[in-house]
Amino acid sequence: MKLIFIGPPGSGKGTQAKRLASRFGIPHISTGDMLREAVAEGTPLGQQADAIMKSGALVPDDIMIGMIRERLARPDAGKGFILDGFPRTLVQAEKLDALISGNGSEPMRVVRLLVPDEAIVKRIALRRTCAQCGAIYHLENQPPKVDGVCDRCGGELIARPDDTEGAVRKRLESFHRQTAPVADYYKSKSWLKEVDGTGPVDQVFEKIEKSLS
Ligand code: AP5
Repeated sequence: MKLIFIGPPGSGKGTQAKRLASRFGIPHISTGDMLREAVAEGTPLGQQADAIMKSGALVPDDIMIGMIRERLARPDAGKGFILDGFPRTLVQAEKLDALISGNGSEPMRVVRLLVPDEAIVKRIALRRTCAQCGAIYHLENQPPKVDGVCDRCGGELIARPDDTEGAVRKRLESFHRQTAPVADYYKSKSWLKEVDGTGPVDQVFEKIEKSLS
């Protein structure tokens, strides 16, 4: 299984990718999580990415392609993977194709989550993320058992620094301008499945599973 999730910010890519990864026993590779880790560790990449992410803009393609090339070369990705947040531009999509076909691999499956912009703004405003393990919550739809504390690891739940109104608007704009054409690119290869990402998380998960079967 080589699966790519495409969708606007807050459409549920991370939520659904984590579930599918544990169902199939393959790694969930989130470029957003990898960048946030680099920021937290204060690496040179993290220092460069921090301001870009907070503004809602995209990190340059060459950095992202190098990052994904290294990650896919790790042994755990050999049996499959779920990509969340990559590719986000046509340049990234073409490079990914070259990387995968270089491995002599099969075509990928691509799921696009469809969620209207108004719903996204509400989801992101109430999202909380575990600072320790990255688990995703929503104060209304998926609340933690104890306020502010991660059910899984006991870590602190925080609002992401790029979830400000201005940054979300910019991320949505960049999705429509730069990432929606990536979905069209996969549609032209007949790899794309479009899934309605509205409704409860379990129902969306069922719809994704059905689209993949
Ligand atoms: P990234 O971390 O990838 O952010 P994003 O694409 O904006 O997506 P999000 O993580 O915000 O949302 P999601 O779709 O995963 O939704 P979630 O499951 O959390 O990237 C961050 C930044 O890094 C980018 O802006 C860019 O700067 C940089 N970057 C990353 N990759 C890059 C690349 N390839 N190239 C260049 N730059 C890159 O769900 C959201 C909320 O909704 C949660 O609270 C959740 O509980 C709730 N929810 C989920 N599903 C449902 C449902 N069905 N019903 C109700 N609520 C739901």
